[in-house]
Amino acid sequence: MSAARHPHASPTANAGAGLFITLEGIDGAGKSSHVEWLAAYWRERGREVVLTREPGGTELGERLRELLLHTPMGQDAELLLMFAARSEHLAQRIVPALRRGSVVICDRFADSTFAYQGLGRGLDTAWIAFLEARVVGAHRPDRTYLFDVPAAVAARRRSAVRPADRFEAEDEDFFERVREGYRQRALAEPHRFLCLDGQATMPNIREELARDSEHLLEKLLNT
Ligand code: TYD
Repeated sequence: MSAARHPHASPTANAGAGLFITLEGIDGAGKSSHVEWLAAYWRERGREVVLTREPGGTELGERLRELLLHTPMGQDAELLLMFAARSEHLAQRIVPALRRGSVVICDRFADSTFAYQGLGRGLDTAWIAFLEARVVGAHRPDRTYLFDVPAAVAARRRSAVRPADRFEAEDEDFFERVREGYRQRALAEPHRFLCLDGQATMPNIREELARDSEHLLEKLLNT
């Protein structure tokens, strides 16, 4: 993934407004441990931060999350419900926050759909791209932190935490395909992604996040 390791800060999609940051990775890659830290980083620099997640982030989105994680359903329904939740989330929270100039930090976004429903489930990625263009449009993240770990490592971490939901219950092959999906997205958009080694120590990961955040802040101040 070397091409994706050195992105240029490009807070352009939402220029003149806020900053849209997403965190991605297979279940157990460790992204959630850094969400609060990133929020604190931006708050300490005087920014309003909206911390949110997908699926979820709105009343409807959180209800859909409950269904998506625990109710058996077909793959097409799963895909469409992900986008239904995302549509509400963008309209009610993400876009208004960006317009106010906030930093929006979202735990998972459309890259998850490409990776999980596309490569993981094997659904048509052209269909996903169409839905993404229609629902997300120009509101693409400015920066995406991708936590990368082998599926076997992530599985060991997950089993230690709590009972599996519908996604976490999938086998190692599924998660290797999801990981490959993320890899493809990162290679297609190296300027947006910063790929982090999910097996690095916490201080090392924080150091990389801090360096990149500083860079993003500098760009924001100069736009
Ligand atoms: P996550 O919040 O990371 O789970 P947890 O609370 O267990 O840390 O994500 C919930 C699950 O939803 C995760 O297994 C990935 C899945 N997901 C998709 O399959 N497609 C999507 O578009 C999104 C946003 C999530």
